[in-house]
Formats: sequence, structure tokens, C-alpha cells
Amino acid sequence: MAKDFSLMENSNNSTNPSIHDVSDPARRLFMRGGVALAAGGLFSGLSGCASMGMPGAPLISFKGIPIGTQDRIVVPEGYTAQTMAPWGDPIGLAGNMPAFKGDATNTAAEQEAQIGMHHDGIHYFPLAEGAEANKRGLLVMNHEYTDDGLLHADGMKTWNADKVKKAQAAHGVSVIEVRETAGNWEVIRPSRFARRFTANTPMTIAGPAAGHAMMRTAADATGTRSLGTLNNCGSGITPWGTYLTCEENFIGYFSGGDTLSEHERRWGLRKGGSGYRWHEHDERFDATKNPNEPNRFGWIVEIDPMDPTAAPIKRTAMGRAAHEGATVAVTKSGHAVVYSGEDARFEYIYKFVSERKIRPATATQTAAQANRNLLDDGILYVAKFNEDGTGTWLPLIHGIGKLTSANGFRDQGDVVIRARQASDALGATKMDRPEWIDIDKQGWVYCTLTNNSNRAGANQPTIDAANPRANNTMGNIIRWKDTGDFDGDTFRWNHFVLAGDPQNSRADAKGNIKGDMFACPDGLWTDARGVLWIQTDMSTSNMGKDDLARMGHNAMLAADVTTGEIRRFLTGPAGCEITGATGTPDGKTMFINIQHPGESPSERSNPDAPTAVSSWPFNSRPRSATVAIRRKDGAVVGT
Ligand code: FEO
Ligand code: CA
Ligand code: CA
Ligand code: CA
Repeated sequence: MAKDFSLMENSNNSTNPSIHDVSDPARRLFMRGGVALAAGGLFSGLSGCASMGMPGAPLISFKGIPIGTQDRIVVPEGYTAQTMAPWGDPIGLAGNMPAFKGDATNTAAEQEAQIGMHHDGIHYFPLAEGAEANKRGLLVMNHEYTDDGLLHADGMKTWNADKVKKAQAAHGVSVIEVRETAGNWEVIRPSRFARRFTANTPMTIAGPAAGHAMMRTAADATGTRSLGTLNNCGSGITPWGTYLTCEENFIGYFSGGDTLSEHERRWGLRKGGSGYRWHEHDERFDATKNPNEPNRFGWIVEIDPMDPTAAPIKRTAMGRAAHEGATVAVTKSGHAVVYSGEDARFEYIYKFVSERKIRPATATQTAAQANRNLLDDGILYVAKFNEDGTGTWLPLIHGIGKLTSANGFRDQGDVVIRARQASDALGATKMDRPEWIDIDKQGWVYCTLTNNSNRAGANQPTIDAANPRANNTMGNIIRWKDTGDFDGDTFRWNHFVLAGDPQNSRADAKGNIKGDMFACPDGLWTDARGVLWIQTDMSTSNMGKDDLARMGHNAMLAADVTTGEIRRFLTGPAGCEITGATGTPDGKTMFINIQHPGESPSERSNPDAPTAVSSWPFNSRPRSATVAIRRKDGAVVGT
């Protein structure tokens, strides 16, 4: 029944640089990969790019590596991979630097001063100018969730309020200061920038949902002040130097009642949640007692890492979703455009266009201060991918189209809080789990659609041109180019690649990769040279089995978006996913995260399950960690 999409796929690699070429350096630097931004200030050029590769040299020239089967990081010949900042190390608060205990007996209070668990999105913010920018900076990183089997000395065999507090303290975001000396990176302790944001950190709610009736709780009658951030998965950065952390699968932390409202069902609330068991000791997560508390999660949260006193702000104008990440582009006219996918089966891809233009720093204000509320006003759109390779951005504006009071949408706050229902009403395209998004130098916007095995299921949406596989075990990368500029309300699209195994006998699992095979793409990062780095997240329960039998461990690959070639660069330890990527402005250090090494599929439901599938990184209890990758000769990574 599969349609013939060969025409579309053939057009994958015919990128025409003359169309909507992002050739203006002042524009390019706003791209996620335009690391010169942070090094040189808001409107400076792309310093250092000329030194980042010989003209005419191939974009990727490292020797690719085989699939991974070892319990360690493998990188190409001539590269080093240094593990740093593992879960549980102190972040460097002056006078409060508790050491990690290998038997996991650290307390909740100690965990609040230590690096969180399950590292995910990450970004490097330089702390110096010029060459020093490459040697001293902040790493800001997300901690998606906790593996309570590893977080506590006896796992989940017993359960109590202290364990809930420790799990909450291991969530959120860490800010650490790092320095490179002779090719070696270390965490600076203490540092005045060191900071943890946890599931209990006070946050401000801004934008159209702030103060809304659906955001008010017994603890916060104003609906403008919430506690904590959860399930922080992918991330983004703004041109004004702030970090965007994204609340992904937040609903699993809440327990619903025996009967659920239509709103609760649409957002996946269940009695008991998905196994975190916080509601048993913290009523905030019992939605039968605090029915509006889940509405206070699912947002993109803005953090200014350079100002240790600044409160994180939930930016509700960008909509509520299981946000995987947030990727910012800038239009020629200077408006910010934020793309974000919602990683859940049959959910959506969004973009937000700011009403106001980005302002430069002034003598009295940093760029972050000058653009403090820029993300609070603008238009949120949801994507509709048409069968003919065109697409439309459908505006989520109260009073327009079907989003009227007559149809049950009370105001704009209601529209952004119930963004899924609003997108349903508009007929947006239900995607195969949109994960990270990034943008190439020609303005193509890439989004990983990690997998979806349910499209063949009863009463489920069937295949469509953008999601062409009924049993999509392998995932794909879709891309689009907006008409005119990033704020265009239409686009054209194609699949950059369908992931798969060329030897698989199932047509839907072969894929069309030019180069090394992979499955379940998740993380995406365009570096300053334009290499598209692809990170995989095959789930532990499927890894090494069925369609994934020949795939080995999760991996990171480099793609040349002009030729379409994809080459395997790194493979991870057992039971991990590879996620998050960033680098120094000179491209000579790349930082990535290893999440949940040693994950065992049945851990959460079965506290006696073995967790010994990995002992990475220190031949003991597995710990998520950051990895700094460099070339031994000190040249740019990937060349
Ligand atoms: Fe948290 Fe969609 O990965
Ligand atoms: Ca992810
Ligand atoms: Ca994933
Ligand atoms: Ca994950």
C-alpha cells in the first residue's frame, strides 16, 4: 500500500543555494550553529569561519566507524572523547559542594547542589572574548528524567517522600563553568554562575496563559508563579544569549482519577501516571487534588545563564506541547522565529513568529535584558504538510477560523493551553513523533521524526505523504523551506532521509540512506561549518531486536546536506541514547551528552531488574555524563 514517494525523495539533495540563500552573515549567525553569535556579541560577523576548513575540501573527512557494540564511547581515529560532568558531581556552589557517593546514598539536599540525572539538551556559552572564548565558558544542560532504580541506594524497593524530593532535585537544568587547558576540560568550582533549576525552583509564567483561570491553583491564585520544570528534553538558544529549555513528557508525572475530563484525556493523563510515583508523597502531582497543575507544564522556559539572579520564565505564547526542543531563526526584518516539535505519536510541529524585532544590547542593557519579553507576543502556527510537497502554517489565533468562543475556545490563553485541541480543530498534520529541529545554511529546516509503530493500528491516522510508513520503526528526517523567509505562512517540504537498514527485508524498514545506516533519529545540530549532526535514540526495549537487530548501540552521525552523505562518527555505551550537541566557537571542541547508560527496559516497573547492562563511564554505577570530543591534532571536529 506504500505510495511512491521517489520523486520527492529524489529532490532531497537538489538543494538550490540560490533560492532564499541565507548568505548574509548577520542572519546566518542567528542560526543555532552560528556559534560566533555568543562569542562575538549580538550583531558581529562569523569570526573564525575562514579557519574552519580549506576551501573546496570535503565537508566531512573523518574515517567513519562501524556500529557500536562495546560498553564505551567509540570515536574515529585521531579523535579523543573525554567524559566530564557526570550525574552527581557537585556543580560548584561556594561552600556547598557535596561529593558523589557511588552507592547512591546522597541526600535530596545534596542532589540539589549536584549535576542532575539523564543529561539531554546542552549549549556552550563563552565567558570570554577572542581566542579565550574557546577555553572558558558555561555549559547549560537539561536533565530529562530520573532512573529511580539507579538514583537511590535501594532503587524503588521502598518509596517515601525523601526519595520523591531527591528525584525532583535530579530533574531540571544545570549551569556549570568549564575551562580547557591543553586539550583537557574541567569544571570550575566554585563558580558564581553555578546554578540548578529543579522540579521545585520558582518560575514566572508569562504570555497569554499567565493568570488564566486554567493556570490558577490553591498554592498560586494568580496563575503566574509556578514551581519547577520537568522532563527537560531538547533545548535551544536565542540570539540574545538566553537558553530555552523544553518541557517534554510532563504528563507522566501526574496521576489522574478514575474518570478523566476530555482535556485530561487529550493530554494523556492516567491514573498512576507513568511510574514516577511523585503523587504518592507530593499532592501537587495528584491531579485529582490539583487539576490545573498539569497545565503549568508543557512550556518552553527561558533562562538567562549569565544572570544568576534571573528567574526562569515560562513563555506561554509559544504554546503548550510535549516540547522536544526550540530552534530559533531570525528573519531578514529581525523578527525571531521559533520552531518546536512535539514528541508524541500523532502530534504536531509548531512555529512562533515574534511580533517585535530583536533589539541589540545598549550601553545600559545586555541583549538578554533588551529582549526580555520578546517571546511573549507573536503568532503561533501549526504545520500542515500537503500531499504535493507544499505546506501551510495554520495560525493558532483566538477568534480566527475554528478557534472561536462558539467552538469552545474562550480566549488566547485557552488556545495556547489547549494547543493540541486547537491544532486538531484546524486539521494540522499528525506526525511520527517530531523531535529536534535545526536549520542549514540554505534555510532548510530539518526535523527528526523518530519513529511510530502505531500508524497501522485500528482507529489511528493512516499514512500520509509526510509520514509515509505504516510501521515506522526506523524514523526519518523531514525538512521544509518557508516561502520568502522564516516567517512565511507556506512552505515546501521533502524527506532529507528515510532511516533504515538496507538489508532489512521489510520495504518500510530499508530506508534510503546514502552512507552509514542508523535508526530512530532524535538529536540534530548544525555546526558552524554546516555539518548536520544526527543523534539516535533507539529505545532500550527494542534495541538489538527485530528491525533494529543490526543497528548496535545508539550513535551520532555526520551528514553533508549538499551531497546527502551520512557517516557514523560516534557510538555510545550499552543502554544509552546520544543527545544534545554544542561546541566552542572555533569548532575544535564538541560537547554531547550520554543519557541513561545502562538503562534496563523493565527497571521502573520491576525494582529487582538488573541495572548492570552498563558500567559506563567509571566501571561502576552507570551515570549520564557530558563528553568533550576533540581532534588529537587540535583541528576542527568533523574535518
Ligand atoms: Fe525526550 Fe523526545 O526525547
Ligand atoms: Ca530527545
Ligand atoms: Ca527520543
Ligand atoms: Ca531520552
